[in-house]
Amino acid sequence: MLILPGLIDPHTHLRVPGGEHKEDFATGTKAAVAGGITQILGMPNTNPPLATAEVLQATLATAAQDAYCDVGLFAGASPPVIEQLPSLAPYAVALKIYLNDTFGDLRVDDVPTLAACFATWPRDKIIAMHAEKQSVAVGIGLAAAYGRAVHFCHISRREEIELIAVAKARGLPVTCEVAPHHLFMTTADYERLGPLADMRPVLGTPSDVAALWEHLGETVDCIATDHAPHTLAEKRSATPPPGIAGLQTSLPLMLTAVKNGRLSLPRLLELMHDNPRRIFNLPAQPDTHIEVDDETPYTITNEAMHSKCGWTPFAGWEVVGRVHKVVLRNQTIYENGQFLDKAGQPFS
Ligand code: NCD
Ligand code: ZN
Repeated sequence: MLILPGLIDPHTHLRVPGGEHKEDFATGTKAAVAGGITQILGMPNTNPPLATAEVLQATLATAAQDAYCDVGLFAGASPPVIEQLPSLAPYAVALKIYLNDTFGDLRVDDVPTLAACFATWPRDKIIAMHAEKQSVAVGIGLAAAYGRAVHFCHISRREEIELIAVAKARGLPVTCEVAPHHLFMTTADYERLGPLADMRPVLGTPSDVAALWEHLGETVDCIATDHAPHTLAEKRSATPPPGIAGLQTSLPLMLTAVKNGRLSLPRLLELMHDNPRRIFNLPAQPDTHIEVDDETPYTITNEAMHSKCGWTPFAGWEVVGRVHKVVLRNQTIYENGQFLDKAGQPFS
């Protein structure tokens, strides 16, 4: 049995408020804990979005009641209320700016709004971006112009990771995360899964996937799940929303890669614990660890998923990395498939 620190997911969609039929704090954080994750950062593209102090405060209060692991939130940059941005900072760990189309209404595509974000968001809290293709160059330019750190979410393409490597070599303050689905699936999986494999960013070509693995040892800073649950009915509708669940499958997929010699265990811990904690300046979790079986193979099933959406695109995959026990601040909160205590604390 492997003993590891509680892992961190810096990119989770928990759907509170407004999307509780897809996920809520209880089901989302159960999925996290069953996947060895004890600290998560929730995304702001909710309904209404986490773009005012009132909505952020109310959402933190819900998390305090319902969460099985610790939860911090992103504030969302929303052009109509951008002048309120500094007032959100006390309730958020970081700011999220969406430069490309995705699920929800948060979208920034004008320079005055970007300038307002970089000029007024407090410097002790990082700015994260959904930026694809040439938008990555926009983010790097803003990091350089304002001399402040930018974190790129779910980088998925060769051209993007190579540009970030160039920016890092220049000493620019940029970091990035990669999602397991972009490491383990390609465009070919659309044929098998149809809309169930649709997400933003979309799945990459084999060359994109190869580039992410080539850069996993250095340029990539974090593994982030981009856990984005939608119901099967929604995914099979005429207008399927993009996104897939990922909290419970991230560690098993990555530990299977360790077993297959594709990355080292110390590197996995940098990507899933040390770097997210440092980049987002997250609170330490003392007396916290997980116990994981990294030897016995098992098959991922939809039935075993704790996410309210009840399905995973990885159903049928054989992996190692079943989590047996999770201890948070000296309290056993999960053991042999049973949830014992709701010990989650919100933080900002
Ligand atoms: C996310 C969602 O459903 O909220 N969907 C996705 O495909 N990743 C939105 C996002 O992270 O951009
Ligand atoms: Zn996301």
